[in-house]
Amino acid sequence: MDRASDDATALVIFGGTGDLAEKKLLPALFHLHKNKYLPEQFRILGVSHDDHTIDSYRKFVADSISERMHSHTPEELAAFVAIVDYVEGSFENDALYSSLAEHLETLDDSKFDTCANKLFYLAVPPNRYELIFERLAASGLTIPCGGEEGWTRVLVEKPFGRDLMTAQTLDKQLGKLFQEEQIFRIDHYLAKETVQNIITFRFANALFEPVWNAKNIEHVHILVSEDGGVGERGSFYEDLGALRDVGQNHLLQMLALVAMEDPGKLDPGLLRSARATVLEDLKPTTKHDIKQHVVRGQYDGYRDIDDVADASGIETFFRITAFIDNKRWGGVPFILESGKKLSERKAEITITFKEPISCVCPLEDDHEHRNVLRIQVQPDESISLLFWAKKPGLTYELEPRELSFSYQDSEADTALPDAYEKVLYDCIRGDHTLFASTEEVAASWRFITPILDHWGKTKLLPYRPGTVAADIK
Ligand code: BG6
Repeated sequence: MDRASDDATALVIFGGTGDLAEKKLLPALFHLHKNKYLPEQFRILGVSHDDHTIDSYRKFVADSISERMHSHTPEELAAFVAIVDYVEGSFENDALYSSLAEHLETLDDSKFDTCANKLFYLAVPPNRYELIFERLAASGLTIPCGGEEGWTRVLVEKPFGRDLMTAQTLDKQLGKLFQEEQIFRIDHYLAKETVQNIITFRFANALFEPVWNAKNIEHVHILVSEDGGVGERGSFYEDLGALRDVGQNHLLQMLALVAMEDPGKLDPGLLRSARATVLEDLKPTTKHDIKQHVVRGQYDGYRDIDDVADASGIETFFRITAFIDNKRWGGVPFILESGKKLSERKAEITITFKEPISCVCPLEDDHEHRNVLRIQVQPDESISLLFWAKKPGLTYELEPRELSFSYQDSEADTALPDAYEKVLYDCIRGDHTLFASTEEVAASWRFITPILDHWGKTKLLPYRPGTVAADIK
């Protein structure tokens, strides 16, 4: 793999001391830097209201990497922290944007000797986006240097908005400041290796597309089960809940990849539009379906977390049965399920095929002879297909067997890149394939918003930490 770009680039991380920066972005950037995938001239500017000097921020960065990554030398870590700077200030305050502008100008003049590309990463809660965009624009920081030199891009985390209306308002605001090609809406699930593999699996093999439809598929189950809880993100979670946090984005994006039509070729525009089209075909959940198609729960102990209300009605678990109103999928349930503090950490897509019309099986055999295709997104990334074979022996009995492929077992170099490495690498390259388009975001909200509107009508089921997702009902 080559460097993402040959041009000098400055990355500004709003929320430079936050959970996302600490756990995901800084380790991913370090790994990219160590492997020489970042531009040779690259600087990172952490921005937050926390009290830090450049030295103490560099220590924070080094600690966050050392805690999570172990196969590096002290020299590699030192080389990385040397490209990190810090600007302190409150997001509301104009002074922050002036010092940011000053800092970036000094970098251009004294370090890069050119007008560098500028990347603004909003690693902050979504309710801060509007404010930051406004201030960025007012400070002139969003304007590229002009001519051929130096682009400006903005990376925003999910969820983009709180519902359809706020997402559209935010989009309008963003549209005034940036061209669509400057905006990168992150959904890091799209950048996970096994999730990317769904389109290869479906469209590069002759085997699956002919049976990929309602005639042959009984149901699709998309699960993101986490054993961890909300941790220190009480206030973030109270504002969002599980459906907005992962349902509107990660789970629906996996659904889109499983269900979309063949985009024809690996082209960002065609892929994003195929994903958007199938999301637009999701059947709206009416208030009559809510009771039947929606389950929500909250784990015992959630209300004891800092910043969580004593009587919080926020869900930490949901299960939604979705349907796609098109020729290929009419009537097939897509079960979307996710929760915190469940029995295991696992993300998986299970596609269960219908029973064969005629099974040449022994009469007394009462098995259900379904084929099941399992795409394990994490951990132990793998794809497996359950099929039926004759049991060796003198009688004619059937038994289930498995065809499987696991990245861990394969002989190729399978150190899988972290999704955030791919996100950052692709954004610097300017490749939008794995980023959500405005149409995709709107279509997902169009499906989620009516459910949120009737959330109150669905009982919040308490569950014990360690419960198996399927047992919450
Ligand atoms: C994030 C959510 O987008 O995804 C978190 O905000 C969740 O609440 C996380 O834990 C799960 O991502 P991953 O990659 O750890 O499965």
